[in-house]
Amino acid sequence: MDRDQVICPCLDVTAGQIMDAYEDGAVTVDAIKDVTGAGSVCGACLDEIEDLLNELRS
Ligand code: FES
Repeated sequence: MDRDQVICPCLDVTAGQIMDAYEDGAVTVDAIKDVTGAGSVCGACLDEIEDLLNELRS
């Protein structure tokens, strides 16, 4: 996945920021939310965060 792709338009959080947070131990959607803020506004990106985490886990 392109690191520059915006996953959460509400807060402008990119795939790269989520990947970095994952590497730093934020391995669940809730943890990603806490660390990056992604998913904490409208919630529309939560499925996409989950998909990205699943990709990172595999
Ligand atoms: S798109 Fe992520 S919280 Fe709205």
